Amino acid sequence: MSKVKVGVIGAGSISEMHFGGYQKNDEVELIAVCDLNADRAKEKAARFGAPDAKIYTDYHELLANPDVEAVSICTWNNSHAEIAIAALEAGKHVLVEKPLCKTVEQALAVQEAQKKSGKTLQVGYVRRYGMNTRVLKKFIDAGDLGEIYYAKASCLRRLGNPGGWFSDVERSGGGPLIDLGVHVIDLCWYLMGKPKVKSVSGNAYNRLGNRNHIENLSFYQAADYDANVNTVEDMANALIRFENGASLAVDVSFALHLKQDEISVRLFGDKGGAEVEPQLLIMGEKHDTILNMTPQIDHLSFDFERGFQKEVDHFIDCCLGRTETICPVEDGVELMKILCAIYESSAKGTEIVFS
Ligand SMILES: NC(=O)c1ccc[n+]([C@@H]2O[C@H](COP(=O)([O-])OP(=O)(O)OC[C@H]3O[C@@H](n4cnc5c(N)ncnc54)[C@H](O)[C@@H]3O)[C@@H](O)[C@H]2O)c1
Repeated sequence: MSKVKVGVIGAGSISEMHFGGYQKNDEVELIAVCDLNADRAKEKAARFGAPDAKIYTDYHELLANPDVEAVSICTWNNSHAEIAIAALEAGKHVLVEKPLCKTVEQALAVQEAQKKSGKTLQVGYVRRYGMNTRVLKKFIDAGDLGEIYYAKASCLRRLGNPGGWFSDVERSGGGPLIDLGVHVIDLCWYLMGKPKVKSVSGNAYNRLGNRNHIENLSFYQAADYDANVNTVEDMANALIRFENGASLAVDVSFALHLKQDEISVRLFGDKGGAEVEPQLLIMGEKHDTILNMTPQIDHLSFDFERGFQKEVDHFIDCCLGRTETICPVEDGVELMKILCAIYESSAKGTEIVFS
């Protein structure tokens, strides 16, 4: 059996999910790893069963390796577009972490490069691969929710600015909106049937900063944690209108005076409703009675490791020409349109209308 030869670019925190997924896929051989920090790249290659993988600190050199057929891009957001374009031009298949990039212009350039190359470009919308999402999608596709006309998503952290590059707008493109909002907005948009966006009204706030003075409460920190730079919003909200009349309300935060962290993703149709997070639940009615239905499945909430395994397995199936990706570059472009419009709306204090 011929294996897909894979390289991973960016060997920080989330790369571990990619490495783990590749290691457990029998059709993959991990042959190259690149990180600005060579020791980090070496350590990851060794830990994930590829001690003989070639180690690079310059991604151009990894891409010049003709044996590499596919790459995962797990770097800071500011380099996603340039690395994805270079990889496609070098004839590699690409799995790029979310967000696709920082701007709509960059997203369109990646789309152009993908079209020219004919290679797979898969955006890392990992929550689409969760068991809860996949089960609900079947119900939605069968018409059980009817027409979904409203969705509401929250991903709120009271103390959760990861610092480092995440809080440096130059490298991240933004704060909780581009980091967390991208997941929950994508999840709603995907399950709503990817309606075309009509207008966006958003607000981004920087009122609490990163709350790095808080004591005795631990929180997630980036690989290269640094609390000194914080140029991103700490909270954002938005109302997104779609051409089919549906709407989506969303709020996200890295810092907020909130009782406890929360995630909730809810969809409302004219025949039924659903909660995807915190746990899958489907609402309906029968014989004039309201029913709250709990699917009997192994994972009612998003299971990180299994989600990434499914994402990686699907990417490899695409590389082998068995199927088309369910997270194509076009979806990355649409999400960048929405995210950037929320920031623009907030900066201008007006609604952004798409023509
Ligand atoms: N899908 C998810 O749920 C999820 C979760 C966390 C992060 N992410 C995404 O993954 C990406 C990485 O996040 P992270 O948490 O792993 O960050 P991280 O800081 O832990 O790791 C990023 C790594 O990339 C390296 N790097 C940066 N620029 C590079 C370049 N040009 N060439 C080579 N190496 C480079 C850094 O040295 C670092 O080791 C981000 O885009 C983030 O949005 C996705």
